[in-house]
Amino acid sequence: MNLKDLYIDFFVSKGHKQIPSAPVVPENDPSVLFNTAGMQPLIPYLMGQSHPYGTRLCDYQKCIRTNDLEEVGDVTHHTFFEMLGNWSLGDYFKDESISWSFEFLTKYLNIPVERLAVTVFAGNDDIPFDEVSYNKWISLGIKPERIAKTVDDNFWIAGETGPCGADTEIFYFRSEDEIPIEFDPNDDRWVEIWNNVFMQYNKAENGIITELPKKNVDTGMGVERTTAILEGVNDNYLSSIWKDVIDLICNISNLSYEGNERSMRIIADHLRTAVFISADPAGIKPSNTDQGYILRRLIRRAIRHAKTLNIDINSDWEQKIATLLIDKYQKYYKELVDNRDVVLNVLTEEKKRFNKTLEKGLKEFEKVTRNNENIDGEMAFHLFDTYGFPLELTVELAKERNLKVDIVGFENKFKEHQEKSRTASAGKFKGGLAGNSEIETRYHTATHLLNAALKVVVGPDVHQKGSNITDERMRFDFSCDHKLTDEEKKKTEDLVNEWIEAGLDVTVQEMSKDEAIKSGAECMFIEKYPDIVTVYQIGNDKYGVVSKELCGGPHVKNTSELTKFKIKKEEASSAGVRRIKAILE
Ligand code: ALA
Repeated sequence: MNLKDLYIDFFVSKGHKQIPSAPVVPENDPSVLFNTAGMQPLIPYLMGQSHPYGTRLCDYQKCIRTNDLEEVGDVTHHTFFEMLGNWSLGDYFKDESISWSFEFLTKYLNIPVERLAVTVFAGNDDIPFDEVSYNKWISLGIKPERIAKTVDDNFWIAGETGPCGADTEIFYFRSEDEIPIEFDPNDDRWVEIWNNVFMQYNKAENGIITELPKKNVDTGMGVERTTAILEGVNDNYLSSIWKDVIDLICNISNLSYEGNERSMRIIADHLRTAVFISADPAGIKPSNTDQGYILRRLIRRAIRHAKTLNIDINSDWEQKIATLLIDKYQKYYKELVDNRDVVLNVLTEEKKRFNKTLEKGLKEFEKVTRNNENIDGEMAFHLFDTYGFPLELTVELAKERNLKVDIVGFENKFKEHQEKSRTASAGKFKGGLAGNSEIETRYHTATHLLNAALKVVVGPDVHQKGSNITDERMRFDFSCDHKLTDEEKKKTEDLVNEWIEAGLDVTVQEMSKDEAIKSGAECMFIEKYPDIVTVYQIGNDKYGVVSKELCGGPHVKNTSELTKFKIKKEEASSAGVRRIKAILE
């Protein structure tokens, strides 16, 4: 049995329910591009909402971390990885969590105790030393010399805010050397394999830490790393997870792994991540923004390294590798089966697009570096925008010639470009909606009314965090630190209906961004708007202005077109964010 199956079996035997892996693109959390940890899709439940599967959960979750994309190519880094996790939602706490981790590692995976060491939270002014975990490890036979106490490395939070807590991390001695008596977490022969976080706090945006309604456990174990350890290989890419992929790349390129490790690892890693991103239900396609840009960079970087290995780019090499990856993972992830053609198509189309521009781009690159001049931000952006050169390709090529690239300059240009492309897509949205669906236009206006009503009923600190509209309903995410009471829901609904009945005019005005802000218009992310914006206002003389928002439209002309508004559901979305689903009747 492989690690994933063993893990799930073990935790199911301890009363856990297996939950399916969530998509890699978060459904509820606009603040991150991809899920980076198993707990991310569970945030509302860690915050107190009850989970339909109960209080003991386990899964393997697809995760993507692209912040150290440049590191891929060594023996341990991956952009995509699977994280094993088990959770207690206000059920068991430190005692069972630590016992079960120990039992799984030593009895199921047969790891000798001498190879294990742990860290526990040392304590600071706010939160005391984690004595319970320390004593638990001692009772299980971990020697005091093998328990390190730290502060910073033993407190876990995903990003800046949300559920968090002290943790205890489990390390494995991954070396042939004699095992030192004393454990030093900074000695990189000790590698972390499992993290058990005792999530009992919530960190708010103002930095204040409060107790969560329940004490939870959140754990995470990386499948790639632990598999390599169990199989006794020091290079993750030599474990059974990668071996056949690397063999296939050797076969396609007619080269051996030895001497070509870096490029082969990059191809294997990046294509696997690209396969999972393009199979995701979010329907991501290569583009120049957000997740689409990551997808583009991954595919193009893989192609670059395939060229380094002298693979014939025009052959179907990428299809062969992607097919092997899909076959390997389809037992666990049905979306790979359902979207097989989509995935293969994304890879090949992007390859064709890249090929077309690459030759021209390389010529341009040669031209601009002819006099060995460093590359300024504008030029790096020109290579990106016109020739599809991801920044890191420009950096890589520049490095080969001992030249520098102005990365900050590039990023500034990139931001400018993103603003423009957002306006353009808002325009597309406008056309699409106006042409397609009147009902969606009505929901769009209802979103503004709901936003305004929540500010009146719940408070001025309510801000929109996201929205999604279909023909059937609207979904609206907003910042709020509590579950709405029935009274708040009723008042909000009544107020929206009052404004609908009052037949308020919806008018639009164009103005500069600064002017719009000064006028008090509501907006989601100010830095993402272009300099000239459109502001939609809802109101008439009797009521005054009830809503004013920066928005691309489209909207109805008068609120009476909305007929009747009804809240169907109010629930947690993510840390400090609530979600309302509503309909127009
Ligand atoms: N959420 C914890 C981590 O990712 C378990 O390390």
